[in-house]
Amino acid sequence: MMKRLILASLSALLMTGPAFASGERQAILDQFSTQAKQQDPAFKGFSAEKGQTMFMGKHAGGKPETSSCTTCHTQDPKGSGQTKAGKEIKPMAISRNPARYTDPAEVEKWFGRNCNQVLGRDCTASEKGDFITFMIGQ
Ligand code: HEC
Repeated sequence: MMKRLILASLSALLMTGPAFASGERQAILDQFSTQAKQQDPAFKGFSAEKGQTMFMGKHAGGKPETSSCTTCHTQDPKGSGQTKAGKEIKPMAISRNPARYTDPAEVEKWFGRNCNQVLGRDCTASEKGDFITFMIGQ
């Protein structure tokens, strides 16, 4: 009886920790993966390297004053960023901010806003997956 109680509370603990967050994040990635396959039958999986290139790179097509993701998020994913208005943005790296990319509505809202601002278009499903894959390793 006691043993079962301990086991039950242990698994409850696990469900609320980073393990739970990583399950939510995986579900979001799985969905991007399904979409990416629909958009491109040759899609083979996400690339952290491509995610890094998108994050670090300068882009044309969006607003000239925000030509890269790093304009607000800075070059260091583990550090805090800043909005144009000077508000702090918490780190994008999972190692520093395990709650990142776990709420599908939040993820869609900000990719939508930021990709259009920086690239002048929506990010593709594979770009979104590459970006999150890069941040998981940070
Ligand atoms: C003009 C400033 C700005 C730029 C440029 C910018 N972002 Fe952001 N981003 C924000 C803010 C503000 C938030 C919301 C606050 C937060 O999540 O801490 C955010 C949040 C996000 C989130 C949501 C993360 C989560 O927790 O679910 C993603 C994903 C994201 N940005 C991706 C990008 C990508 C990719 C680029 C480049 C294509 C980019 N951002 C460029 C300001 C910016």
